[in-house]
Amino acid sequence: MPTKPNTEAGADSLAAVLCNVDAARTYRAGLEGTVALIPTMGALHDGHLEHIRVCRGLADHVLVSIFVNPTQFTQGEDYQRYPRSLEVDIRKCAEAGATGVFTPNAEELYPPGQLDIEIDSPALTGGLEGRDRPGHFQGVCRVVVKLLNILQPDIVSFGRKDYQQLRVVQAVVADLMMPVRVIEVPTVREADGLAMSSRNVRLDAEQRRRGLGLYKALMAAKRLVEQDGETDPKAVEQAMCAVLQSHQVEIGYAAVRHPQTLSELECVEPALTGGVVALVAGDVGAVRLIDNMLLGSGDR
Ligand code: PAF
Repeated sequence: MPTKPNTEAGADSLAAVLCNVDAARTYRAGLEGTVALIPTMGALHDGHLEHIRVCRGLADHVLVSIFVNPTQFTQGEDYQRYPRSLEVDIRKCAEAGATGVFTPNAEELYPPGQLDIEIDSPALTGGLEGRDRPGHFQGVCRVVVKLLNILQPDIVSFGRKDYQQLRVVQAVVADLMMPVRVIEVPTVREADGLAMSSRNVRLDAEQRRRGLGLYKALMAAKRLVEQDGETDPKAVEQAMCAVLQSHQVEIGYAAVRHPQTLSELECVEPALTGGVVALVAGDVGAVRLIDNMLLGSGDR
């Protein structure tokens, strides 16, 4: 077993805390059995810990990467203010049963002077988050491919909470024929329905109340489609917008889409398209929140 590259508080039950690419590659090369990777930007919450629990049941080794990736923040976004809590995160990983943590730094993943590379799936990234945050998914794809190449996991885990990201990563992995299985982990919610997100810690009590509007908008869409039989996408989107507005959420989008291609629908009929996904995004103060729900599938 490789020596521990550092002795962060709480890291004792982890086999390794890997702070650079060489250490990560060497460690990975020495692992026998299957490896799962959970890519994160830290500020870990129960949603991330659920990934660790799921991956423990699927692989012999569970690695968590913690890296606030600068290339996926668009200009004026919250890269500097993004919550960072590395020591606590490492402790949480250990407690939840991860076997290793990879914490690279930006200078090593993006060496100054190295030419930019763009990886994209334009059909999937043109709308929704991709429209509101130009360049975001290109940054996500770039760092995910780097992490997969460095750690070469058998399984990589993505949350359904970042629905568009999940579909984009699946498309990249399929097209580039990367030898890794992408698994999706359902969204973990607070008791009242608010989707867990690292950004929630930046909401004060009043903003948190407003943020719940995203979940309520999705539940309104679910009722409208599943109980009332509404099939007009515009009617469902308007209903979601009304709930978001009543919670003073500055709306980014409220959309119903095909669950795989994310294309617009002429008619909302989950039974015909293998489900329908409703997606919402908006700003509450300076905090951008997103959420989604599969309609016609028992998701809630
Ligand atoms: O979902 C996230 O936290 C990030 O987008 C990811 C996948 C870790 C890439 O930086």
